[in-house]
Amino acid sequence: MKSSSIAIFASGSGSNAENIIRYCQSTHDCRITVALVICNRPNAGVVARAEALNIPVKVMTRDEINNPSIIIPTLEEYGVDAIVLAGFLLMIPGFLIDRFAGRIINIHPSLLPKYGGKGMYGRHIHEAVVAAGEKETGITIHHVSGECDGGEIIFQTSVELSSTDSAEDVERKIHQLEYLHYPQVIADTL
Ligand code: GAR
Repeated sequence: MKSSSIAIFASGSGSNAENIIRYCQSTHDCRITVALVICNRPNAGVVARAEALNIPVKVMTRDEINNPSIIIPTLEEYGVDAIVLAGFLLMIPGFLIDRFAGRIINIHPSLLPKYGGKGMYGRHIHEAVVAAGEKETGITIHHVSGECDGGEIIFQTSVELSSTDSAEDVERKIHQLEYLHYPQVIADTL
């Protein structure tokens, strides 16, 4: 089977990015190499996490990420042939979706199509899930299309909620699901 060199795009704490990097570095027969982390926020936790694991990091502005003559040579320089989003909060420009057709995947911390779309990310989702009194929530791993949270679904799994769960409790449960499944789904898909 072909091996893949991925770039992880992340905007925040980067616990999923770290988990994916550790999985790839420690799994003997993993076909995935994390070649690069791209982050749009200089102070995001993911920057230090990736550097501590010896992964190159590029902090790039939204304009740079949206500029083909800047982002494409950067990805080429690191031999990137697929992109993994892990808590990345900008839209992926259409020219990247075309160039990496079928090779950009995202994780979303809800059971899409529930709690998806603009403004639905991270803690906001878990607060909405608690406010709605949901009995379960989950994660969705999907291909990235031009539509926000709209690409073809690859994998979903759910977790039960109790009536006393706070948004922080839900976030903890979701992160556990993400850590357990995202690296394997990446390895199986890319
Ligand atoms: C993750 O739960 C991820 O699913 C979510 O942000 C969190 C990032 O956590 N992504 C979205 O909400 C995208 N719409 P992390 O920075 O610790 O990996």
